[in-house]
Amino acid sequence: MIDLRSDTVTCPSVEMRAVIAGAPVGDDQFGEDPTVNQLQELVASVLNKDAALWLPSGTMANQVALRVLSHPGDDVIVSRESHMVWHETGGGAANAGVQFTGIGQGGLFSISDLVTAVKPREHMVYPPTTVVAIENTHNRAGGIVFPQQRVDEICRTATELGLTTYLDGARIWNAAIATRRPPAELARPFDLVSAALSKGLGAPAGTMLAGSHDRIAQCVRHRRMLGGAMRQAGILAAAGIYAVQQNCDRLGDDHKNALVLGEKLIGSQFVDLDLETVQTNILVFRLTEASADAQTVVNRARERGVLALAFGPRTVRVVTHLDVSREACEKAGDILLQVLESN
Ligand SMILES: Cc1ncc(COP(=O)(O)O)c(C=O)c1O
Repeated sequence: MIDLRSDTVTCPSVEMRAVIAGAPVGDDQFGEDPTVNQLQELVASVLNKDAALWLPSGTMANQVALRVLSHPGDDVIVSRESHMVWHETGGGAANAGVQFTGIGQGGLFSISDLVTAVKPREHMVYPPTTVVAIENTHNRAGGIVFPQQRVDEICRTATELGLTTYLDGARIWNAAIATRRPPAELARPFDLVSAALSKGLGAPAGTMLAGSHDRIAQCVRHRRMLGGAMRQAGILAAAGIYAVQQNCDRLGDDHKNALVLGEKLIGSQFVDLDLETVQTNILVFRLTEASADAQTVVNRARERGVLALAFGPRTVRVVTHLDVSREACEKAGDILLQVLESN
């Protein structure tokens, strides 16, 4: 099977497993796991923030960030179709008690979209907007990169409006490689930033939150409250250190492989895809009305050895990652084309 469902399907390599096996560990809730501490210092330094915290998953990182940056009843502004709204089973509402306002198009929004959507505090009827979140890269928009100049301007405006800022940077590493900017530059304007270790970087688990000492101290408390504080987590943090040090630079290969797939797919009359949106490792394409629906296409592809995801009735997602080679992507592209054309 060529598994293009997600970059989360990546498995630890032999080298990563060796690092995991040799990791010195301790009780992280006493702050005594040297490997967790090392990873947290490494990521704080890579993102140029005061401190960083390891959490078991990106979903928990988002929940913790929401709890730290908002109060129940608040309004959180996000890009349309953000992960926090679509893929966290209502966690934002259940765990942080917030409501979301989705703005913009294609994973992006403008300052004017933001200013129009912000609801003032202390209004008789409005829920106060307290957070603006950006997802970079944007998953459901097809791995699109949020232009950094606009990110900087949005965060400046948000601060002037008294809002806090959050970067869902699950794939900040991909955005950094695609824009040739250091991750710290992408993280700079935000109060809190998440960065996943378990997606394109190939670690088995873990997402980091980074920010000021004060905010990270609050994150420690909320991680515990949500049941995410662990003990000898250095076993997992060791994989994270390996992932950050060894697997960032190669992400460009995944981006090139996504383009290889995209270039094949646009050869089909049944595919609606703008290659300009294939900027990183995620490819989301629409099926035209004349095509079979997304689930049928995905089922037929599976029968021929390619795994993809039906993202909507007529939308399919494929993701490239370190466990699929260029040759595998070319083969998968050919198979997907055959499946589409055999409509
Ligand atoms: C943008 C984004 N944020 C957060 C997450 C959540 O990560 P996890 O699967 O580790 O909970 C994902 C997962 O794919 C994601 O794409």
